[in-house]
Amino acid sequence: MSRMVTSPQVVNIADLRLLARRRLPRMAFDYIDGGADGETTLRENCRVYEDVTLRPRSAVVAKSVDLRTTVLGIELALPVLLAPVGSCRLFWPRGEAAAARAAGKAGTAYILSTLSGTRLEEVKAASTGPCFYQLYLCGGRDVALATIARARAAGFSALVVTIDTPVSGLRERDFRDGVKELLSGRPFTMLPFVGQILARPRWLAAFLADGGLMSFPNIVLKEGPMPYADVGLALEESATCWEDLGWIREAWGGPVVVKGVHTADDARRAVDAGASAIVVSNHGGRQLDGVAPTLRVLPEVVAAVGDRVEVLLDGGIRRGGDVVKALCLGARAVLVGRAYAYGLAAGGEAGVARAIGILRADLGRTLKLLGCPSVAALDASHVRVPAHWR
Ligand SMILES: Cc1cc2nc3c(=O)[nH]c(=O)nc-3n(C[C@H](O)[C@H](O)[C@H](O)COP(=O)(O)O)c2cc1C
Repeated sequence: MSRMVTSPQVVNIADLRLLARRRLPRMAFDYIDGGADGETTLRENCRVYEDVTLRPRSAVVAKSVDLRTTVLGIELALPVLLAPVGSCRLFWPRGEAAAARAAGKAGTAYILSTLSGTRLEEVKAASTGPCFYQLYLCGGRDVALATIARARAAGFSALVVTIDTPVSGLRERDFRDGVKELLSGRPFTMLPFVGQILARPRWLAAFLADGGLMSFPNIVLKEGPMPYADVGLALEESATCWEDLGWIREAWGGPVVVKGVHTADDARRAVDAGASAIVVSNHGGRQLDGVAPTLRVLPEVVAAVGDRVEVLLDGGIRRGGDVVKALCLGARAVLVGRAYAYGLAAGGEAGVARAIGILRADLGRTLKLLGCPSVAALDASHVRVPAHWR
């Protein structure tokens, strides 16, 4: 089935999502697909793009369009980076390395989550492109300092500090799918929920051949890599606060990106704390449900700090047209999470390559239809936003 990702019938990200659903057990698919609480923000992140309409310049022939940009001075072939997505080995063997490889070949950056099952050195070595490291403080300051030193030595280009996870959001689907029970390791507790796993024998065989349930080799505690089941508590005990940015920045010594900004006030605070870029992000609707969709708050954040740092955005990007709208409203580039995670789950590296290929083709076509020669030339004149946004 993984070969199906290259089929001509796979034309958009929604098609990759369906393939992912067919290959993964329900709990793994829902882990990618779901959001927090009533999933209002998750839905709105995608829907809000419909509120913004495009204003093309017709009868303009742009034979070739330039998709290149730079983020933090790093050249990218297109303004789409792969967002940090934890637990990728649940989707595909050594999933983080597969995704990083696809990103590198496509000429863009891969952001590795702290909560990954593959050693950061292996992930960096897999990619020919730039890699950023996303930091949670699981295990405390000393553990984080050791990881920061490893990431620097391995050649990661930037540190992405996620600030929207003081506790894990409540993902209701995880409860229904029995994630806690499946992680308990107790056969009788697990029994009611194992059917979904046995129903996907190919996934199961690949998962077991890849070592089964991973631990986190980039969170090295005194006892060794942090076990999978301990994530929730570890996040809660090690929530990042503004005061942490000082020592993180000093230890890293390179550009720091703050991810999880929702308001102009926090954007200013992040910049004052030394951020080189910020990501307007609500974690893909997986943390605080009920916050505004990211595209809606982007103009406020750009107005506050856009002349001081690069502003990136993620959340709800499923088409190249979405990328265009975010860039017109002031984003330097976007991050995609689920768009490539579906591809990874459907077909490993080939699936991620397909996801990026779909977005790249969309982007090029949309620019031509807009009569715009490059992503650099996109601006507010190419979109119309609802009057009440102003
Ligand atoms: C399965 C999954 C796991 C994620 N894990 C992390 C993570 O470990 N760290 C982080 O900062 N963000 C994480 N995110 C959030 C993404 O980085 C990104 O903000 C979000 O996916 C963007 O929304 P989108 O999925 O609609 O593109 C995760 C998202 C998904 C879908």
